[in-house]
Amino acid sequence: MKPARVIAIASGKGGSGKSFLTLNLAEALSRMGRRVVVLDADFGLANIELLTGAEPEYSISDVLAGKCDITQTLIEGPGGVRIIPGGRSEPTMASLSHGRLSGLINAIDVLAGDIDYLLIDTAGGLSSNDLQLVQAAGELLVVMTPDPLSQADTADFIKALRGHCGIQQFGILTNMTRRQREGHTLVETLQQRLDFEQDLVLRHCGQVPFDQDVAKCCQNFQSLLEVRPESRTARALQMLAETLDRRRISSPVAGGMTFFLEQTVNAGGM
Ligand SMILES: Nc1ncnc2c1ncn2[C@@H]1O[C@H](COP(=O)(O)OP(=O)(O)OP(=O)(O)O)[C@@H](O)[C@H]1O
Ligand SMILES: [Mg+2]
Repeated sequence: MKPARVIAIASGKGGSGKSFLTLNLAEALSRMGRRVVVLDADFGLANIELLTGAEPEYSISDVLAGKCDITQTLIEGPGGVRIIPGGRSEPTMASLSHGRLSGLINAIDVLAGDIDYLLIDTAGGLSSNDLQLVQAAGELLVVMTPDPLSQADTADFIKALRGHCGIQQFGILTNMTRRQREGHTLVETLQQRLDFEQDLVLRHCGQVPFDQDVAKCCQNFQSLLEVRPESRTARALQMLAETLDRRRISSPVAGGMTFFLEQTVNAGGM
């Protein structure tokens, strides 16, 4: 059995489209026949719930509190995606201790044999939760938009991840682009900004165009992939899912320190 891939979707700046991209990439992968689970790790703000309109009974913090098991939290998302809700007001999750992070990982490990992908929608920025989750995932996608602030924050974010976690290789996903190859140019500019950091490797994984239908779909809990499958944005998301499915984003953590399902599955010799 192939080990499940665990991909954290992160960004230096909030509002770059992490939750939208996580859910839609998950949906695109699911429509390709992959078994996909999304972990809403923006604990307390229920990002994915807000995008799907779901009102789940349990969240990940109930699992950690021993009130239910992980399978009871799962809610159905678009295209067969399953979602682990982050919960709406979970101050206890605001900063995960090492013990709670281990609990989270163990709880999710229960799903190991049952999924191909775990996508983690992080809160964004440099919270200690995000740094830990990014470090624990096997792969990382950093979302950046053409907004000059987003570029500056992405550069800082990348430097911090290298400093705190030893990550040297980064997959960058550009979102809300308005011109062809704009994403490519943005990543080149980012590389120049970081040029004195000789050991950093950036790879542009794809660009997702700005589309005003995104906001409409989000407001109406509709799936862009279903409602506007031929739009440039939907096609970009499908292409991105195919690219991700073909090959891994280069392993982000120096020394290959990966946790979550990969470790469990490998240890189990499956
Ligand atoms: N490609 C796009 N085209 C147009 N609008 C987009 C696109 N991607 C995201 N958006 C819109 O941008 C806003 C922010 O998106 P989203 O909530 O996914 O960002 P986020 O990075 O998860 O934010 P936060 O850091 O607050 O969690 C939403 O209103 C969403 O509809
Ligand atoms: Mg979000």
